Amino acid sequence: MTDLPSPSKTILRALSGERQAIPPVWMMRQAGRYLPEYRATRAKAGDFLSLCYTPDLAAEVTLQPIRRYGFDAAILFADILLIAQALGAELWFATGEGPRLSTVTGPGDLARLKPVEAIHETLSPVYETVRILQGELPAETTLIGFAGAPWTVATYMIAGRGTPDQGPAHALRMADPDTFDALIELLISATIEYLSAQIAAGAEVVKLFDSWAGSLKGEAFARYAVDPTRRIIAALKARHPGIPVIAFPREAGEGYIGFARATGADCVAIDNSVSADWAAAHVQVDGCVQGNLDPRHMVTGGAALTEETRRIVRAFSNGPHIFNLGHGITPEADPDNVQRMIDAIRGG
Ligand code: CP3
Repeated sequence: MTDLPSPSKTILRALSGERQAIPPVWMMRQAGRYLPEYRATRAKAGDFLSLCYTPDLAAEVTLQPIRRYGFDAAILFADILLIAQALGAELWFATGEGPRLSTVTGPGDLARLKPVEAIHETLSPVYETVRILQGELPAETTLIGFAGAPWTVATYMIAGRGTPDQGPAHALRMADPDTFDALIELLISATIEYLSAQIAAGAEVVKLFDSWAGSLKGEAFARYAVDPTRRIIAALKARHPGIPVIAFPREAGEGYIGFARATGADCVAIDNSVSADWAAAHVQVDGCVQGNLDPRHMVTGGAALTEETRRIVRAFSNGPHIFNLGHGITPEADPDNVQRMIDAIRGG
């Protein structure tokens, strides 16, 4: 074993397995509609996708929560569905309704998608955002890049929208497994290229969002959540040794157990459907965990917010931990509650 110097940034230290008395903190959707400065920049961009594809403005909204709160990490501002668009799907955001896409329901739709090499043409502004951020972030702030995990992106590409139970994706994987598997394979390859390009541009950590992993059970979870994650991580580690990966198989429940070992992830992000005590006992035994305050506390605040924040810090205090919410902060959150959460973490 070589003695590598311990990294100086708090997030990288946690990801290398170091327990810290005060855990580093960032928040999913930290650049978002709860912040007036985000709403102003988004208005300037015109619409959400223009914001994602305008590097100066995407970098600006990424930096806003860092300036306001001094989070330990900045997450690249983009969206998990841009890769679908880069592969040739139509993508638009219907105001107040969420994403809409052209659908993939059979071999003909699949054949119309673009080859993996074509993605950079659409996604190059995202890499430019990463380069800008690399130059502008404070020295102590870690830059996190990300992509959606193949299953989650596939659920949107198949249904053409968000779905409560991912029904259309489950139906396709059972009715036409060849088309479904080919879509997953395409997304695995595209995700490797996309994340590699983010790393080449300056991302120091990457995170895989598998928001709908919880609807995969048993063998399907192993095949479509664990295995794609494992293959993406193996390819990234081969190309970029030392780049840590955070995996977020949201609502995996029992599936969180052993997920880091099975996939090679350096950290498993935990949603708030499981307790911090349970996750400490069953997931943190394998290494760093991230999570898992219920985002509703950012709306409701009060003593419960402070108590619950402290309880989570205590529950994970025996091992490596990155404090985060269990899911993204919502537009109706009170920005002052974010500061209260940070004060409870850093001030004890
Ligand atoms: O976390 C961050 O601050 C980085 C940027 C980021 C966004 N989306 C910005 C965004 C990240 C990492 C995502 C991930 C994402 N996008 C996921 C996985 C995480 C999760 O929430 O489960 C998913 C499923 C998506 C797809 C998506 N994008 C949906 C379903 C929606 C509509 C719902 C909503 O919140 O409006 C989006 C839009 C979106 N992505 C917004 C932001 C800030 C809101 C758009 C706006 O400004 O109007």
